[in-house]
Amino acid sequence: MNPSQPIKRHWAFAVPFFTTMVAESAALNQRLIAELNASRSTHVFSHLHGNRYENTYVDPKFIPSARGVFDLAESVVSQIMKRPMVVPREADQLGRHWFWFNETAMRGGVTKVHNHWTSWTVFSGCYYVKVPPNSGNLVFSRQRTQTMADGVLLRDSDFFGDVEVPPSEGLLVLFPSWVDHLVRPNESDDSRISLAFNLRLADGKDANFTTSAVVNG
Ligand SMILES: [Fe+2]
Repeated sequence: MNPSQPIKRHWAFAVPFFTTMVAESAALNQRLIAELNASRSTHVFSHLHGNRYENTYVDPKFIPSARGVFDLAESVVSQIMKRPMVVPREADQLGRHWFWFNETAMRGGVTKVHNHWTSWTVFSGCYYVKVPPNSGNLVFSRQRTQTMADGVLLRDSDFFGDVEVPPSEGLLVLFPSWVDHLVRPNESDDSRISLAFNLRLADGKDANFTTSAVVNG
């Protein structure tokens, strides 16, 4: 083999994600924070990392203002997927509903790399309710699934790239549920609040993908 022979680099895939600004979000966010605060005695927590629970689950009857965000997400994702998609109304076997708040109340709080992949999740969303300056970017990441080769991370940026998404109050981000993502540390002294959720096919059928890896949240 001639070591100087030309070699072409090809790219296999790009992964789309989608953003839109929610109308009249300032008033909406005030209502969401009031509803979140008024329901604190009912909250259920999961995903303890360090000394912080990443997910705060609330019964939707206490958060009526979230429905408008879900309606918009359902409309957008149904257009993207060209079939009806829904944020499920029912709870799972543990009584948790298919949305949760992520409240980073302390400086340095992070959300580690994860995805929302299950047998039924197709798209996921994140809506930003309260975003102090420097409270942590959303990052779509290849730190995990596409970068392990015999345990060695390929740190060449072509293999290891991250995509930073600066959050802002009123921003809705929609992405395929299998995409790994994380949240950078909250470098502010104020709390950062987002509302996350999953969407599935409206006909109620699982996507019929096979996987044993279910990492929710
Ligand atoms: Fe997430």
